[in-house]
Amino acid sequence: MALFDLAPKESEDALFGRDREVAELVRLVEARRWVVVLGPRMVGKTSLVKAVRNRLHRPGAYVNLWGVRSVQGLVEGLISGLNESVSLRTRLARAARRVDGFSAGPSGLAVTSSRPPLKSAWDLLDLLGSEKRDCLVVLDEVQELSSNAGALLKLLGNVFNTRPNIGFVFTGSLAGLSRTLLEPATTSPLYGRAPISLSLDPFDRATSAQFLARGAREQGVKLSGDEIAAALDGPLDGTPGWLTLFGNHVAVRRLPPSRALAETVREGKKAAEAELVHFLESRDVNLYWPALKAIATGAGWGTVREYMGRASGESVNDGKVLRVIRGLEANYLVRQTEGRYVLVDPMVRAFVLEAGSIPKVRRARPTVRRAQSVSL
Ligand SMILES: Nc1ncnc2c1ncn2[C@@H]1O[C@H](COP(=O)(O)OP(=O)(O)OP(=O)(O)O)[C@@H](O)[C@H]1O
Ligand SMILES: [Mg+2]
Repeated sequence: MALFDLAPKESEDALFGRDREVAELVRLVEARRWVVVLGPRMVGKTSLVKAVRNRLHRPGAYVNLWGVRSVQGLVEGLISGLNESVSLRTRLARAARRVDGFSAGPSGLAVTSSRPPLKSAWDLLDLLGSEKRDCLVVLDEVQELSSNAGALLKLLGNVFNTRPNIGFVFTGSLAGLSRTLLEPATTSPLYGRAPISLSLDPFDRATSAQFLARGAREQGVKLSGDEIAAALDGPLDGTPGWLTLFGNHVAVRRLPPSRALAETVREGKKAAEAELVHFLESRDVNLYWPALKAIATGAGWGTVREYMGRASGESVNDGKVLRVIRGLEANYLVRQTEGRYVLVDPMVRAFVLEAGSIPKVRRARPTVRRAQSVSL
C-alpha cells in the first residue's frame, strides 16, 4: 500500500514511523490488557489498530462506531465485523444454532430484531469467547457510545469476568466514554481493571519531512527540500492524515505543491467544520462556539468568559468556563501550553478564525437509552 494512499493503512509494512507504538500495542494485547488508543483526528489511530490486528491475526471484529449512538448500532457493527472472516463466521454460525434469537445463513450470523440489543451484544461476545484461542475486538471511535456508557460498561465488565480470552482495543478522544473507561469509578464494573491508554502524537518536523520525501520517491515525483519545508510551515503540522492528503494531491493528482497545499488546507478546514458541528450537536453551542472563537484568537481566560457571556446572554462564572474548557480539552480540541489555551489542530484553528457565524448545528435527537435493565 502506497504511503500516500488515503485509506487507513492495514498492515505494519504500510505504516510509517510507528514501530514503537505498534510494538507497545502488541505487547499490551498479548499481555491481555485492554487498551484505549487516544489521539487527535487524522493522527493515524485507525491505521495503528488495523495494522496491529493484522499482525496478531486473531479471531474477532473491527467495529467503526462513528455516528453509532445506540447499543443496537453496536450489535450491527459486531455482527458485520464477526461475519467478515469466512472461517470465523462458519464456526460462530454453527455454535449460534444453540442460542435463541440467532439465525445463521451462508453470509453468517444474524439476530432477530425483537431481542434486547444489550442481550444480543452479550451473546455475540460470548459466542466469540467460546473460540479456543485469544480473540481481539476493536471498537474504533468508542466515545460515540457515551450516552450508553452504563450499558456498555456492564457488558464489558461481564466479558472481563467470564471471557478472559477476549481482548479489547478502543480508540477515541478522551471524552465521555473513553474517560469513563480509563478512570472508572469505584462502582464501575471496570474498576480495578481499566484499560491502559496509549497516546498517538503527530510526527515531529524531521519525521514529517522524511514521510513526504519517501512518499514522493515511491510515486516517482519530485518534491524539493524547499517545497517540503513550505508545506510543513503551514497547518499540516505533522498530522499524518494531512501529510498523506497533500502527498496524494502532488503525486496522484499531479498538482503543483503550492496548489496541493492550498487544496489540502481547504479540505482540512471542511473536515474541521464537520468535526466541530458533530461535537457541538450534543452541547450548548452558545457556550462552546464563543469559547473556541476566543481561544483561536489567542485570548486569555477573561476574554473567553466575556465572549461566552455575550453570546449566551447570561452571566458566565469561572466554573462554567472551566467546564467548557475541560470539555474542549477532553476532545483534543484545546490544550494548555505555556500557561495559555490553544487549539490543538491548526485546521480547526484556521476554520474557526475564518468562520463568520456559528456553524449550523443540527441538534442530536435525545436517543439516550441509559443502562438498560437486562440481566446478562
Ligand atoms: N503512520 C502512518 N503511516 C502512513 N500513513 C498514515 C499513518 N498514519 C496515518 N496515515 C494516513 O493518514 C490518514 C488518516 O489515518 P487514520 O484514518 O488511520 O487516522 P485516524 O486518527 O483514525 O483519523 P480519524 O480521526 O479521522 O479517525 C490515512 O490516509 C492514513 O493512510
Ligand atoms: Mg479513525
